[in-house]
Amino acid sequence: KESKDQLIIDAGQKRFGATMCKSCGMIYAASSPEDEMQHVQHHHRFLEGIKYVGWKKERVVAEFWDGKIVLVLPHDPSYAVRKVEDVQELVDRELGFQQVVSRCPNKTKTFLFISDEKRVVGCLIAEPIKQAFRVLSEPTGPESSSSKECPRAWQCSNVPEPAVCGISRIWVFKLKRRKRIARRLVDTLRNCFMFGCFLSTDEIAFSDPTPDGKLFATKYCNT
Ligand code: ACO
Ligand code: ZN
Repeated sequence: KESKDQLIIDAGQKRFGATMCKSCGMIYAASSPEDEMQHVQHHHRFLEGIKYVGWKKERVVAEFWDGKIVLVLPHDPSYAVRKVEDVQELVDRELGFQQVVSRCPNKTKTFLFISDEKRVVGCLIAEPIKQAFRVLSEPTGPESSSSKECPRAWQCSNVPEPAVCGISRIWVFKLKRRKRIARRLVDTLRNCFMFGCFLSTDEIAFSDPTPDGKLFATKYCNT
C-alpha cells in the first residue's frame, strides 16, 4: 500500500474517496480496484518517464537553487534523445496531442528542468519558425460565451508577423506548477536559442496554446 504517498485533497473529494498521489499527481478513487489498477500503471510509467539518472555529457544551460536546466539537441547521444522522447510522450498524452510531426526535427531544441530530486519536472520544446499569427484578444459581450464551449479555438489574426522561435510544447509537472519553472524555461530558451542574442518576447510564439498555456503566455509576455 502506498498510503504514505497519498493525500486527501479536500472534503468534497474525500466523500467520494478521491485521493491524489503525491508522487505522480494522479487523482483516483482508492476505494475502486479498477482505479487503483490504473493508478499503479500510470504511476510506474510516469515515474520511469520523468526519472533522470544524470548523464556524463549533459549540457547544463542554467542552474538554480531548486534544480537545473539541461538542453538536448537532435544529434545528442541516444540516451538523451530517448529521454526527451519519453518525456514528450507523457506530455503529449496529458495535453491530448496526437502525433504532432515536427516541422524541422533537426533543429528542435528541448529544454528539461531537472529538480533536485533528479526528476524531469519541466519540459520546453522549441523550433525555428519564420512567422506567427497573433492571438486576438477574446471578444467581449454576450457572444463571448461560446469561447467557454470551445476553449482552444482562439481567434487568430490572419496577418503573419515575423517570429524566430516557436514553442511547440511547454509543460510543468502538476505538483510543481506556479514555482516559476515555466518562466525560467522560457527565459533560458530566449538566451540560448540563437547564439549571442537574447530573443525578445515578440520573437517567440506559442503554438496552439491550451488555456493554461495561454494564461502563462499572456502573463509572461506582459512582464
Ligand atoms: N492560471 C493563471 N495564471 C497562470 C497559470 C494558470 N494556470 N499558470 C501560469 N500563470 C501565470 C502566473 O501569473 C504566474 O506567475 P505567479 O505564479 O507569480 O502568479 C506566471 O504565469 C508564471 O508561471 P510559472 O510558475 O512560470 O508557470 P508554471 O511553471 O506553473 O507552468 C504551464 C505553466 C507550463 C502552462 C503549466 O501550467 C502546465 O504545464 N500546464 C499543463 C500543460 C499545458 O497546458 N501547457 C501549455 C501547452 S501550450 C504549448 O505547449 C505551446
Ligand atoms: Zn502515483
